[in-house]
Amino acid sequence: MNVPGTPDRILSGMRPTGRLHLGHYHGVLKNWIELQHEYESFFFVADWHALTTHYESPEQMSEHVWEMVIDWLAAGVDPGRATMFIQSRVPEHAELNLLLSNITPLSWLERVPSYKDQQEKLGDHLSTHGFLGYPLLQSADILIYRASGVPVGEDQVPHVELTREIARRFNYIYGRERDYEEKAEAAVRKMGKKAAKLYRSLRQSYTEKGDESALERARALLNEQQNVTIGDKERLYGYLEGGGRIILPEPEAMLTKASKLPGLDGQKMSKSYNNTIYMRDDEARVESKIRSMPTDPARVRRTDPGDPEKCPVFDLHQIYTGPDVHSWINEGCKSASIGCIDCKQPLIDKVLEEQRLMKERASPYVEDSTLVKKLIADGCERAQEVAEETMHEVREAMGLLYT
Ligand code: TRP
Ligand code: SF4
Repeated sequence: MNVPGTPDRILSGMRPTGRLHLGHYHGVLKNWIELQHEYESFFFVADWHALTTHYESPEQMSEHVWEMVIDWLAAGVDPGRATMFIQSRVPEHAELNLLLSNITPLSWLERVPSYKDQQEKLGDHLSTHGFLGYPLLQSADILIYRASGVPVGEDQVPHVELTREIARRFNYIYGRERDYEEKAEAAVRKMGKKAAKLYRSLRQSYTEKGDESALERARALLNEQQNVTIGDKERLYGYLEGGGRIILPEPEAMLTKASKLPGLDGQKMSKSYNNTIYMRDDEARVESKIRSMPTDPARVRRTDPGDPEKCPVFDLHQIYTGPDVHSWINEGCKSASIGCIDCKQPLIDKVLEEQRLMKERASPYVEDSTLVKKLIADGCERAQEVAEETMHEVREAMGLLYT
């Protein structure tokens, strides 16, 4: 949905895992890079989230954070468009997390699928408060920027769902002021005659006839209003739907298609399978990694025909090369007229070409590490401004302003 004052803001976070690989690039980062042109974008390093599962290994945190941010830049995240920051540098996330914890039933956290799954996978030592609570921390991450969209993979959708439920509960508890109707009506009048009339008629179309397009148009109308305070906008959004103030808008998950990029062995590319090509991997290493990739097991000798459909090399070709190359491979492999080394060469060329671009984008930041630190410091400052604005509203709603 649209957000008071910030119609199209997206937010996404990534745990600091250190250097990123081509699976991250094709699965997540390419999507971010497209979105940054369409939306006001916030991308952050979820360092506190990393501690929910890896609290006992802080040594590498710093290195992992900077390597990862440089990989974002290498991929083409544009600091002129997107705000990049580190979660722990905006401690308001923790404040919102704490305040929201009061209205979050334990059962909501216990039924998050990743909780049960991961707990089984990683063993009982993860019976910590932090681990159980991490989807709520994620909700705070999202709600504090009043993001309308959250680009994530399938596995994260339940967390966005939880976020929506928490926002709804928050607005329900804190958005119903005693004199709400009068305040909302006063806010309508403050828009001016013409806008007020349009607002009323759109509201009526929605509440009486369920006309969704009227709701959309009314929200757009509100977004255009320059002279309405944030508090009044929250009232006017809520009033449209017959509820109270919408202090924390409900975000939508924006599903990232699962990456089709397999690893060197045909399984999903992942550090733990040891089948990755890093985004800024060394050229000679990339060549040798691809050269030693397994192929169709039926092609033992150069003279044995093979089937590209059974070959992980051909899977990578789907991402990196075009239809001409694919039909050349199809014919050549099945008739044994080309060898696997021949087949791998155009793939190697394309991967190296893509990586040269990435290394080029990363190079100023690799050479001068103060650049990336400065850029993140600016991003943290910008993020904090927005977070503070929300927190002011939240503190006020929860009776914590003491004015
Ligand atoms: N939980 C996410 C992951 O493990 C990372 C994350 C933390 C996130 N906070 C977020 C993603 C907010 C999107 C929005 O991948
Ligand atoms: Fe795989 Fe190419 Fe060899 Fe066929 S020729 S088995 S597609 S590497």
